[in-house]
Amino acid sequence: MKQIVDIIQSVRLDDVEDSLIILDQTQLPNQKVYLSLKEVSEVWEAIVQLQVRGAPAIGIAAAYGVYLGAKQSVADTIEQLRDSFLETKAYLATSRPTAVNLFWALDRMEKRFLTDHESGFSIDAIINGLKEEAEQIRIEDEQICEAIGEHALTLLEPGMGLLTHCNAGTIATAKYGTALAPIYLGQEQGYQFKVFADETRPLLQGARLTAWELSEAGIDVTLICDNMASIVMSEGKIQAVLVGCDRVAANGDTANKIGTSGVAILAKHYQIPFYVCAPTSTIDFTCKDGHDIVIEERASEEITSQWYQEPMAPAGVKTYNPAFDVTDHSLITAIVTEKGIFDPNDLKRLSKSTF
Ligand code: MRU
Repeated sequence: MKQIVDIIQSVRLDDVEDSLIILDQTQLPNQKVYLSLKEVSEVWEAIVQLQVRGAPAIGIAAAYGVYLGAKQSVADTIEQLRDSFLETKAYLATSRPTAVNLFWALDRMEKRFLTDHESGFSIDAIINGLKEEAEQIRIEDEQICEAIGEHALTLLEPGMGLLTHCNAGTIATAKYGTALAPIYLGQEQGYQFKVFADETRPLLQGARLTAWELSEAGIDVTLICDNMASIVMSEGKIQAVLVGCDRVAANGDTANKIGTSGVAILAKHYQIPFYVCAPTSTIDFTCKDGHDIVIEERASEEITSQWYQEPMAPAGVKTYNPAFDVTDHSLITAIVTEKGIFDPNDLKRLSKSTF
């Protein structure tokens, strides 16, 4: 991108301090606070608490976490380093279950460890290799998001009204975002999209994050409550829906933030195209369909007492708080990846050609 639009970066390594710098997303939009994380446990906590969130960003943070763990290891031998590496990897893998990018990034770090180990590298060289790999994952994600933006933009026309759910923006990735990448790209090319952001209950990623980052970039964004998507669509204000995702199954079913499948059902009703934007690392061919995707369930307090100091629900009320839902592939018009635009029924083509 030409960088006319000032795009925020939320995850990076501080080379001098050897620490992971993240934009604390729990404090947005009120405060722009950067945290410097040095311990693996801090990285784990930041992922669990959603201080760093969004499938690609979680993967990048975990990759840096593995490097920080290796750097701090007191291993005298490569075998000891490998044991401590595997322990760190297993620990970080327990942070969140749904976004496959986390596991993908951790596996990629392990592959790098093994390759360097087999090449006879010293402890220091292996640790340096892990740093390089984490950096590479971040840099590649930026390029991937840009490519997703370019492909997705071919599906859109200037002046369109676009609806998005949750936050699949620059702060959920290395840069640009997935679902928001074509919006940034379009902004640079004068497309003048009108973006509608679902607030995204219960944690308000749409209100706190999407509305914030698009406003910061000078993009026309209107915040709506989740239950307003239908009226906005019925009024003809939406010409396409763009969302990100946390895992795509082999049959094209996709898991994304809770509420996404409802938006897809509405889009089908109103005959509005529904696009899922994601890097190919989000496709998990080990999941046959959406039933195989593990859905994270989070604390009831997120529903009962997040907004006000006072409880918002009667004490002890039963709650159910799944953080994601699965959108059936039949509701998805196309899955836009860095390798092009795919029919959700035809992901096998991608698996054969590129994996
Ligand atoms: O719980 P979150 O905020 O991490 O959920 C994030 C989403 O659902 C995003 O849409 C998804 O990770 C894609 S981010 C490019």
